[in-house]
Amino acid sequence: MKALVWHGKEDIRCDRVSDPTIEHPRDAIIRVTSCAICGSDLHLFHNLVPAMLPGDIMGHETMGVVEEVGSAAAGKLKKGDRIVVPFNIFCGECEQCRRQNYSLCERTNRNKELADKVFGHSGGGLFGYTHLTGGYPGGQAEYLRVPFADCTHIKVPDGIPDDKLLFLSDILPTGWQAAAQCDIESGDTVAVWGCGPVGQMAIRSALLMGAEQVVAIDCLGDRLSMAAAGGAITINFMQESVIARLNDLTGGKGPQKCIDAVGTESHVSFAQPDTILDRGKQMMLMENDRPHALREMIYVCRPGGVISVMGVYLGLVDKLPMGVAMNKGLTWRMAQAHVCRWTDELLRLIEDGSLDPSFVVTHKVDLAQGPEMYRVFRNKQDSCIKVVLTPGANGAATRTAQAGTAAGAYA
Ligand SMILES: NC(=O)c1ccc[n+]([C@@H]2O[C@H](COP(=O)([O-])OP(=O)(O)OC[C@H]3O[C@@H](n4cnc5c(N)ncnc54)[C@H](O)[C@@H]3O)[C@@H](O)[C@H]2O)c1
Ligand SMILES: [Zn+2]
Ligand SMILES: [Zn+2]
Repeated sequence: MKALVWHGKEDIRCDRVSDPTIEHPRDAIIRVTSCAICGSDLHLFHNLVPAMLPGDIMGHETMGVVEEVGSAAAGKLKKGDRIVVPFNIFCGECEQCRRQNYSLCERTNRNKELADKVFGHSGGGLFGYTHLTGGYPGGQAEYLRVPFADCTHIKVPDGIPDDKLLFLSDILPTGWQAAAQCDIESGDTVAVWGCGPVGQMAIRSALLMGAEQVVAIDCLGDRLSMAAAGGAITINFMQESVIARLNDLTGGKGPQKCIDAVGTESHVSFAQPDTILDRGKQMMLMENDRPHALREMIYVCRPGGVISVMGVYLGLVDKLPMGVAMNKGLTWRMAQAHVCRWTDELLRLIEDGSLDPSFVVTHKVDLAQGPEMYRVFRNKQDSCIKVVLTPGANGAATRTAQAGTAAGAYA
């Protein structure tokens, strides 16, 4: 089959690789109809995430049609079912899964021992990500093996186009969780740093949850326009002071709720000198992340407020004003999204027409154009906000692999 394969820094290729097979009775194989490139994939593209290996298949936002089901998943899935695949792989049985902390599943990271050493305690397995999260092949491919498929799926009805459903895999529940973590009350101002796909979903979620005003911060005109179309007040941080404007909009008190949808790769600019320092430290391996948005959030957030972090951070951050956060009594909430915790509610909103996440799609191309689209998305060229890839659209994909033995155990 064809798949987008990581070969090193800024080197992703559309290669021919072996077709996936059923390796365990809980597995399923799907034929991918749509998949997308995420801001998290850019961290891999830039080789900022340790423990990627040449040959790893990218992608964690995927949907398709079930082709084959292992014996232990057969009660829950059958050939022909249409499913969206959440980016976290989860068992459904461990203590974390019982609490619906699906991204923290205790059983699905097959490199748990290594991750325990790095993180103290490991989270769960993720598709198409680092070997620290299991090194599972991802879904930017014609076919995907879904481990723990009896749980790790979202069944979706026919009759709704892929573009409206695909983002249940990641960015929609991620944006939703960003807002949910804020415990929004009427009268709240929610400020959202970053108007990429995750920020866009967070903006709409915060408004649906009853925020009085949502303020969106970025420096890219197209993304700010999309945020404004969704009902946000916008701040272009290259043109005005984020702190001054947020204080203006809140009677001098600051927003009660602050969402980080930027993460580790904050823009570097002379207008924000700390980002230059962070960049230098990153190059000298003295710091992993560029936490400009976090610093700004801590400074401007109203005392007693909430900092909700969904932007991905990778390791050690420097010069984070912890004393300010502590003395202002701020609450921190953060996670890799617990995707399936939110999907029943979100699917209902999509089905009844209250929510249509397809507004974010700016580019839709064949899988073979994936490598080029990584660059377009990274460079924010051509007003690119979200790329959807459609494997098999130019001629149906065929899988040559025969059914596996299904005798393997999850390592
Ligand atoms: N926690 C999760 O489960 C989860 C899921 C998906 C994505 N993510 C993470 O969320 C983040 C955003 O993802 P995305 O797909 O929207 O990516 P993206 O790269 O398209 O968006 C990031 C946006 O932040 C803006 N930005 C950069 N510096 C900024 C600053 N200082 N202030 C305000 N805006 C700034 C950029 O212009 C860009 O529009 C990434 O870190 C990604 O890894 C997390
Ligand atoms: Zn993602
Ligand atoms: Zn579990």
